[in-house]
Amino acid sequence: MNLTRPCGIIVILFAMLGIDSTSATKIYNVLNFGAKPNGETDSTKAFLLAWQAACGSSECTMIYVPKGRYLIGSVAFRGLCKSPHITFRIDGTLVAPLDYRVLGKNTNWISFGGVNGVSIVGGALDAKGSFLWACNIPTLTVLLEPRIHRLKSLNSQMFHIVINGCEKVHVQGVKIRAAGNSPNTDGIHVQSSKNVNIIKCSIKTGDDCISIGPGTKDLWIERVICGPGHGISIGSLGRNLKEEGVQNVTVKNNFCGHSKRFEDQVMG
Ligand SMILES: *[C@@H]1O[C@H](CO)[C@@H](O)[C@H](O)[C@H]1NC(C)=O
Repeated sequence: MNLTRPCGIIVILFAMLGIDSTSATKIYNVLNFGAKPNGETDSTKAFLLAWQAACGSSECTMIYVPKGRYLIGSVAFRGLCKSPHITFRIDGTLVAPLDYRVLGKNTNWISFGGVNGVSIVGGALDAKGSFLWACNIPTLTVLLEPRIHRLKSLNSQMFHIVINGCEKVHVQGVKIRAAGNSPNTDGIHVQSSKNVNIIKCSIKTGDDCISIGPGTKDLWIERVICGPGHGISIGSLGRNLKEEGVQNVTVKNNFCGHSKRFEDQVMG
């Protein structure tokens, strides 16, 4: 029996109609948890508090990020959640810190783990700081060394969004930007997850736009713009003999390279 699916569809419809019509969905505005839209104040804790509140609610919930720039350090949004469906509605831009030491200890910037039913709708992720990329690759490797055996299929690569151990995740209308000289930076990484959709996104990073790791099943990628990085890759498999394979990946109407007009069509 699956009671969560109708709830999820309703949330996405409400999200498209605008947030005012969401009587069935409980809304958590990150500003109410102390987030500051000035691009300078660290809002990581506020986002985590909003997540905890939404995750702990037994209703369908929406975390709303209004317009503005939000400085976010490395953050993991984890389940299990009571809420049957959480929508991250982002009208603003999430900005990575320029100081590489903040992110350097971690492999991922924003990750979702162990959640069942999440939509990430809209928004931009901005990690343009070339200082970050220029400095953090050697630092990252050194710092990760003692733990690297636990990471198995993840190497010292940096990912913007990681979806690991999740089910029913919907990513739509998200723009990801990193400097072109960020050689080890992927856009979205999916692994050990089922039923993930990535639709109408624009991903500009130095490396893979979407990378697909072991245990990915029923992944749907449609109308995603990639570039100047390497595109979509299924990689880093077979490092562990017991790992699961990749099954049923659909890739439709994607575009690699630069075209402002195409981007306007896809995102608009
Ligand atoms: C493959 O995945 C898609 C969703 O991405 C799903 O609709 C379809 O039923 C799956 N096909 C099989 C054979 O499991």
